Amino acid sequence: DGAAPLRVMISGAPASGKGTQCEMIVEQYNLAHIATGDLLRAEVAAGTDAGKLAQDYMQKGQLVPNDVVVTMVKKKLSEAPNGWLLDGYPRSLTQAEALEALNIHPQIFILLEVPDEILVQRVVGRRLDPVTGKIYHLMYSPPETPEIAARLTQREDDTEEKVKLRLKTHSANVQSVIDIYKPVMKVVDGNRPKDQVFADIKNMIMELQGEPEKVNGCL
Ligand code: AP5
Repeated sequence: DGAAPLRVMISGAPASGKGTQCEMIVEQYNLAHIATGDLLRAEVAAGTDAGKLAQDYMQKGQLVPNDVVVTMVKKKLSEAPNGWLLDGYPRSLTQAEALEALNIHPQIFILLEVPDEILVQRVVGRRLDPVTGKIYHLMYSPPETPEIAARLTQREDDTEEKVKLRLKTHSANVQSVIDIYKPVMKVVDGNRPKDQVFADIKNMIMELQGEPEKVNGCL
Protein backbone atom coordinates (compact mmCIF):
# COMPACT_ATOMS: atom_id res chain seq x y z
CA ASP A 1 0.00 0.00 0.00
CA GLY A 2 2.72 2.52 0.98
CA ALA A 3 0.28 5.37 1.62
CA ALA A 4 1.44 6.68 5.00
CA PRO A 5 -0.76 9.46 6.42
CA LEU A 6 0.16 12.76 4.83
CA ARG A 7 1.17 15.77 6.89
CA VAL A 8 0.76 18.97 4.92
CA MET A 9 0.96 22.64 5.92
CA ILE A 10 -0.23 25.49 3.73
CA SER A 11 0.68 29.07 4.37
CA GLY A 12 0.46 32.43 2.66
CA ALA A 13 -0.88 35.94 3.04
CA PRO A 14 -4.58 36.66 3.55
CA ALA A 15 -6.52 35.63 0.42
CA SER A 16 -3.49 33.99 -1.16
CA GLY A 17 -5.78 31.00 -1.84
CA LYS A 18 -5.13 28.68 1.11
CA GLY A 19 -8.77 27.78 1.65
CA THR A 20 -9.40 27.37 -2.08
CA GLN A 21 -6.46 25.00 -2.50
CA CYS A 22 -7.43 23.13 0.66
CA GLU A 23 -10.88 22.39 -0.82
CA MET A 24 -9.15 20.72 -3.75
CA ILE A 25 -6.47 18.96 -1.70
CA VAL A 26 -9.03 17.50 0.67
CA GLU A 27 -11.17 16.25 -2.17
CA GLN A 28 -8.18 14.48 -3.66
CA TYR A 29 -6.45 13.19 -0.55
CA ASN A 30 -9.13 12.95 2.12
CA LEU A 31 -7.02 14.64 4.81
CA ALA A 32 -8.41 16.30 7.93
CA HIS A 33 -8.56 20.00 7.02
CA ILE A 34 -7.65 22.00 10.10
CA ALA A 35 -8.13 25.71 9.39
CA THR A 36 -7.60 27.92 12.41
CA GLY A 37 -9.52 30.84 10.85
CA ASP A 38 -12.57 28.60 10.29
CA LEU A 39 -12.30 27.08 13.75
CA LEU A 40 -12.12 30.54 15.32
CA ARG A 41 -15.09 31.83 13.31
CA ALA A 42 -17.09 28.82 14.51
CA GLU A 43 -16.20 29.65 18.12
CA VAL A 44 -17.23 33.27 17.60
CA ALA A 45 -20.53 32.21 16.01
CA ALA A 46 -21.21 29.81 18.89
CA GLY A 47 -20.45 32.52 21.44
CA THR A 48 -17.99 30.39 23.42
CA ASP A 49 -15.42 31.89 25.80
CA ALA A 50 -12.68 31.26 23.26
CA GLY A 51 -14.81 32.94 20.61
CA LYS A 52 -15.46 35.98 22.78
CA LEU A 53 -11.77 36.34 23.39
CA ALA A 54 -10.83 35.81 19.74
CA GLN A 55 -13.37 38.20 18.20
CA ASP A 56 -11.59 41.40 19.08
CA TYR A 57 -8.26 40.27 17.66
CA MET A 58 -9.86 39.00 14.47
CA GLN A 59 -11.66 42.30 13.96
CA LYS A 60 -8.33 44.08 14.19
CA GLY A 61 -6.56 41.63 11.90
CA GLN A 62 -4.22 40.58 14.70
CA LEU A 63 -3.19 37.12 15.81
CA VAL A 64 -5.47 35.57 18.41
CA PRO A 65 -3.50 34.71 21.59
CA ASN A 66 -1.53 31.51 21.24
CA ASP A 67 -3.08 29.57 24.10
CA VAL A 68 -6.51 29.73 22.40
CA VAL A 69 -5.23 28.62 19.01
CA VAL A 70 -2.69 26.04 20.17
CA THR A 71 -5.29 24.22 22.28
CA MET A 72 -7.71 24.05 19.35
CA VAL A 73 -5.10 22.75 16.95
CA LYS A 74 -3.70 20.12 19.31
CA LYS A 75 -7.17 18.69 19.81
CA LYS A 76 -7.89 18.54 16.09
CA LEU A 77 -4.54 16.93 15.31
CA SER A 78 -5.15 14.23 17.88
CA GLU A 79 -8.38 13.41 16.03
CA ALA A 80 -6.71 13.07 12.62
CA PRO A 81 -5.16 9.60 12.35
CA ASN A 82 -5.40 9.54 8.54
CA GLY A 83 -3.29 12.57 7.89
CA TRP A 84 -3.83 16.31 8.14
CA LEU A 85 -3.75 19.54 6.23
CA LEU A 86 -2.99 22.50 8.45
CA ASP A 87 -4.29 25.76 6.98
CA GLY A 88 -3.21 29.03 8.54
CA TYR A 89 -1.25 27.47 11.38
CA PRO A 90 1.40 28.01 12.61
CA ARG A 91 1.52 31.76 12.16
CA SER A 92 4.17 32.59 14.71
CA LEU A 93 7.35 31.17 16.12
CA THR A 94 5.58 30.20 19.35
CA GLN A 95 2.91 28.29 17.45
CA ALA A 96 5.51 26.41 15.41
CA GLU A 97 7.45 25.61 18.55
CA ALA A 98 4.32 24.20 20.17
CA LEU A 99 4.16 21.59 17.40
CA GLU A 100 7.88 20.91 17.48
CA ALA A 101 7.55 20.21 21.20
CA LEU A 102 4.89 17.59 20.43
CA ASN A 103 7.16 16.09 17.80
CA ILE A 104 4.67 17.02 15.10
CA HIS A 105 6.35 17.91 11.82
CA PRO A 106 5.00 18.49 8.32
CA GLN A 107 6.38 16.60 5.33
CA ILE A 108 5.80 19.69 3.25
CA PHE A 109 5.25 23.38 3.97
CA ILE A 110 3.57 25.05 0.99
CA LEU A 111 3.92 28.82 0.77
CA LEU A 112 1.55 30.54 -1.67
CA GLU A 113 2.96 33.74 -3.12
CA VAL A 114 0.65 36.45 -4.48
CA PRO A 115 1.36 40.18 -4.90
CA ASP A 116 -0.35 42.45 -2.35
CA GLU A 117 -2.49 44.40 -4.83
CA ILE A 118 -4.02 41.14 -6.09
CA LEU A 119 -4.73 40.05 -2.52
CA VAL A 120 -6.82 43.15 -1.91
CA GLN A 121 -8.98 42.46 -5.00
CA ARG A 122 -9.45 38.88 -3.90
CA VAL A 123 -10.52 39.88 -0.42
CA VAL A 124 -13.14 42.42 -1.42
CA GLY A 125 -14.73 40.04 -3.95
CA ARG A 126 -14.72 36.96 -1.76
CA ARG A 127 -18.04 35.41 -0.75
CA LEU A 128 -18.84 32.27 1.24
CA ASP A 129 -21.64 29.79 0.93
CA PRO A 130 -22.91 29.17 4.48
CA VAL A 131 -24.60 25.94 3.35
CA THR A 132 -21.65 24.14 1.73
CA GLY A 133 -18.78 26.17 3.19
CA LYS A 134 -17.48 26.73 -0.36
CA ILE A 135 -15.40 29.80 -1.17
CA TYR A 136 -16.39 32.00 -4.12
CA HIS A 137 -15.22 35.21 -5.75
CA LEU A 138 -17.65 37.50 -7.55
CA MET A 139 -15.27 37.79 -10.48
CA TYR A 140 -12.80 34.89 -10.40
CA SER A 141 -14.98 32.09 -9.07
CA PRO A 142 -18.64 33.10 -9.36
CA PRO A 143 -21.45 31.01 -7.86
CA GLU A 144 -22.88 28.31 -10.12
CA THR A 145 -26.57 29.14 -9.67
CA PRO A 146 -28.75 32.16 -8.74
CA GLU A 147 -29.89 30.20 -5.71
CA ILE A 148 -26.34 29.97 -4.38
CA ALA A 149 -25.68 33.60 -5.34
CA ALA A 150 -28.63 34.73 -3.22
CA ARG A 151 -27.38 33.09 -0.04
CA LEU A 152 -23.68 34.09 -0.18
CA THR A 153 -22.21 35.92 2.80
CA GLN A 154 -19.17 38.12 3.31
CA ARG A 155 -16.67 37.92 6.14
CA GLU A 156 -16.54 40.88 8.50
CA ASP A 157 -12.80 41.24 8.10
CA ASP A 158 -12.98 41.25 4.29
CA THR A 159 -12.69 44.98 3.74
CA GLU A 160 -9.81 46.79 2.10
CA GLU A 161 -8.98 48.51 5.36
CA LYS A 162 -8.95 45.31 7.39
CA VAL A 163 -7.03 43.24 4.89
CA LYS A 164 -4.24 45.79 5.11
CA LEU A 165 -4.01 45.14 8.84
CA ARG A 166 -4.06 41.37 8.22
CA LEU A 167 -1.29 41.76 5.65
CA LYS A 168 0.82 43.66 8.16
CA THR A 169 0.35 40.93 10.75
CA HIS A 170 1.29 38.32 8.16
CA SER A 171 4.48 40.09 7.07
CA ALA A 172 5.56 40.61 10.66
CA ASN A 173 5.34 36.89 11.44
CA VAL A 174 5.90 34.84 8.32
CA GLN A 175 9.69 34.82 8.34
CA SER A 176 9.98 33.21 11.75
CA VAL A 177 7.74 30.36 10.59
CA ILE A 178 9.67 29.96 7.32
CA ASP A 179 12.89 29.71 9.32
CA ILE A 180 11.56 26.61 11.04
CA TYR A 181 10.19 24.84 7.97
CA LYS A 182 12.71 25.86 5.33
CA PRO A 183 13.97 22.30 4.76
CA VAL A 184 10.50 21.17 3.66
CA MET A 185 9.27 24.46 2.19
CA LYS A 186 7.93 24.71 -1.38
CA VAL A 187 7.12 28.14 -2.72
CA VAL A 188 4.19 28.14 -5.15
CA ASP A 189 3.19 31.02 -7.43
CA GLY A 190 -0.40 31.55 -6.28
CA ASN A 191 -1.10 34.26 -8.84
CA ARG A 192 -2.40 31.89 -11.49
CA PRO A 193 -5.76 30.20 -12.08
CA LYS A 194 -6.61 27.96 -9.14
CA ASP A 195 -6.41 24.76 -11.18
CA GLN A 196 -2.87 25.55 -12.26
CA VAL A 197 -1.85 26.23 -8.70
CA PHE A 198 -3.43 22.96 -7.64
CA ALA A 199 -1.66 21.02 -10.40
CA ASP A 200 1.68 22.10 -8.90
CA ILE A 201 0.62 21.21 -5.39
CA LYS A 202 -0.61 17.81 -6.52
CA ASN A 203 2.73 17.08 -8.15
CA MET A 204 4.53 18.01 -4.97
CA ILE A 205 2.34 15.76 -2.87
CA MET A 206 2.72 12.91 -5.35
CA GLU A 207 6.47 13.30 -5.14
CA LEU A 208 6.21 12.96 -1.37
CA GLN A 209 4.28 9.77 -1.70
CA GLY A 210 6.74 8.52 -4.26
CA GLU A 211 4.04 6.97 -6.32
CA PRO A 212 1.64 7.98 -9.10
CA GLU A 213 -1.96 9.18 -8.98
CA LYS A 214 -3.95 6.19 -7.92
CA VAL A 215 -3.05 6.45 -4.22
CA ASN A 216 -6.58 7.20 -3.15
CA GLY A 217 -8.26 5.07 -5.74
CA CYS A 218 -9.33 2.65 -3.06
CA LEU A 219 -11.15 5.17 -0.86
P1 AP5 B 1 -8.06 33.19 8.22
O1 AP5 B 1 -9.46 32.86 8.08
O2 AP5 B 1 -7.08 32.11 8.13
O3 AP5 B 1 -7.73 34.34 7.18
P2 AP5 B 1 -6.45 34.67 6.28
O4 AP5 B 1 -5.18 34.09 6.67
O5 AP5 B 1 -6.49 36.14 6.21
O6 AP5 B 1 -6.74 33.93 4.97
P3 AP5 B 1 -8.02 33.97 4.17
O7 AP5 B 1 -9.01 32.99 4.69
O8 AP5 B 1 -8.47 35.39 4.08
O9 AP5 B 1 -7.55 33.61 2.70
P4 AP5 B 1 -7.16 32.27 1.97
O10 AP5 B 1 -5.71 32.26 1.76
O11 AP5 B 1 -7.81 31.07 2.57
O12 AP5 B 1 -7.84 32.59 0.55
P5 AP5 B 1 -9.13 31.99 -0.16
O13 AP5 B 1 -8.85 30.65 -0.68
O14 AP5 B 1 -10.35 32.19 0.67
O15 AP5 B 1 -7.83 33.96 9.59
C1 AP5 B 1 -8.70 34.97 10.01
C2 AP5 B 1 -8.26 35.55 11.34
O16 AP5 B 1 -8.28 34.52 12.35
C3 AP5 B 1 -6.84 36.10 11.39
O17 AP5 B 1 -6.79 37.44 10.94
C4 AP5 B 1 -6.50 35.97 12.87
O18 AP5 B 1 -7.09 37.00 13.61
C5 AP5 B 1 -7.19 34.66 13.24
N1 AP5 B 1 -6.28 33.49 13.11
C6 AP5 B 1 -6.34 32.52 12.16
N2 AP5 B 1 -5.34 31.62 12.33
C7 AP5 B 1 -4.64 32.04 13.41
C8 AP5 B 1 -3.49 31.53 14.08
N3 AP5 B 1 -2.84 30.43 13.67
N4 AP5 B 1 -3.05 32.22 15.16
C9 AP5 B 1 -3.68 33.33 15.59
N5 AP5 B 1 -4.75 33.86 14.99
C10 AP5 B 1 -5.24 33.22 13.92
O19 AP5 B 1 -9.20 32.97 -1.43
C11 AP5 B 1 -9.50 34.33 -1.30
C12 AP5 B 1 -10.36 34.78 -2.49
O20 AP5 B 1 -9.60 34.68 -3.70
C13 AP5 B 1 -11.61 33.95 -2.73
O21 AP5 B 1 -12.64 34.77 -3.14
C14 AP5 B 1 -11.20 32.96 -3.82
O22 AP5 B 1 -12.30 32.56 -4.62
C15 AP5 B 1 -10.20 33.78 -4.62
N6 AP5 B 1 -9.13 32.95 -5.19
C16 AP5 B 1 -8.47 31.94 -4.58
N7 AP5 B 1 -7.53 31.41 -5.39
C17 AP5 B 1 -7.59 32.14 -6.54
C18 AP5 B 1 -6.86 32.10 -7.77
N8 AP5 B 1 -5.88 31.20 -7.97
N9 AP5 B 1 -7.18 33.00 -8.72
C19 AP5 B 1 -8.17 33.90 -8.52
N10 AP5 B 1 -8.90 34.00 -7.39
C20 AP5 B 1 -8.61 33.12 -6.40
